[in-house]
Amino acid sequence: MPLISGQEIMTAAENTDWAAIRARFPILENKTYLNSCAYGAISTDVIASFQAYINDRLEKGTDWEYWVERNESVRTAVAEFLGATTNEIAVTASASAGINSVASSLRFDQGRKKVVISDFEFPTNAQIWYAQERRGANVVRVPQRDGYIPIEHFENAIDEDTLIVAVTQVCFHNGARLDIPAIVELAKKKGALILVDGYQALGTLEFDVKTVKPDFVVGGMLKYLLGTAGIGFLYVRDTLIESLVPTVTGWFAQADIMAMDSTQYAPSPSARRFEMGTPPVPNCYAAEAGLAILAEVGLPAIASRVANITTNIIAEAKSAGYSLSVPENSARRGPMVTLQTHDEFTLVGELENAGVVTSSRNGNLRISPHFYNNHDDVAALFRALRPLKHLMV
Ligand SMILES: Cc1ncc(COP(=O)(O)O)c(C=O)c1O
Repeated sequence: MPLISGQEIMTAAENTDWAAIRARFPILENKTYLNSCAYGAISTDVIASFQAYINDRLEKGTDWEYWVERNESVRTAVAEFLGATTNEIAVTASASAGINSVASSLRFDQGRKKVVISDFEFPTNAQIWYAQERRGANVVRVPQRDGYIPIEHFENAIDEDTLIVAVTQVCFHNGARLDIPAIVELAKKKGALILVDGYQALGTLEFDVKTVKPDFVVGGMLKYLLGTAGIGFLYVRDTLIESLVPTVTGWFAQADIMAMDSTQYAPSPSARRFEMGTPPVPNCYAAEAGLAILAEVGLPAIASRVANITTNIIAEAKSAGYSLSVPENSARRGPMVTLQTHDEFTLVGELENAGVVTSSRNGNLRISPHFYNNHDDVAALFRALRPLKHLMV
């Protein structure tokens, strides 16, 4: 999606009927749902899409062409969402599947060996790269300082031996947002590839691959993309695709899937070469429905709304005397606000008892709104926190 000005963003948010959109997420009638970093709230659209899958199965029996079309619809929707072409998108079962496929296509035994990750990675985007050490990779982890990773730390780590930089956009445990455009630029300057794990950010802020220019982006439909578990995507820049030959593969990665040729490996000329086996068909229905809501509301309005709610949460937290884990600077945070706790599990459990759904990681309470939340949700959260003050730092 093209980037637009701040003024236009405000107008887009003001012109949206947020109450009507909120009504499409029934869980919000019963709970204060602030856990989109773990699982996005289910919409009536996604509920209907699962029913449509069941109806189609009952009606069509086995119609593989139709199921494959569902996968292609998701590919098209993801491409539109990222400003990519459909050739550049692989529909995967998870972010891990996409990262593994990319890793398998790299050689660590010729020339560059270094893989640069960071202290902020979700485990999968570290473990997969550490697994490549058996194939000759040398994994270097960029350290954080006081809850953030300044760009100089990446400058110190990325060099002429770096094959790939693989970093998260927003940290899953404290909500800090890295300066991805600057990291992309650093990687390019040193001739390294750059992979962005956008799972904790995409769906809440504008991100256009033609502007940011990463080589790879991975994500999934479970959280802010409003779909379901068991489906994700991988973007691969078009000019790179044919030079990369994944060795983690399967029949849906072949140039001609229906050739059913078990005598050779002939990968697709498109990013489909990074796929593997049978597509996650039921999840395609849900993913398409989730992405359609995002396209309908529009990223400019969503980004503005989410920023407004997170700013409100931070203001409330400060006035209650709670300690932030997330950086306060809005350029350094995403859709998740994190607060320091003395006992994260008791706190999350007590909030759950009070009807407020949150989660925690590394001692932090994670509060993760989406555009379907409102300021009443924020007020309900802080009301529920009041008697739990002894658990807060
Ligand atoms: C930043 C990030 N990356 C990746 C994942 C999950 O990856 P996968 O789809 O492989 O389960 C998560 C999920 O919690 C995440 O927060």
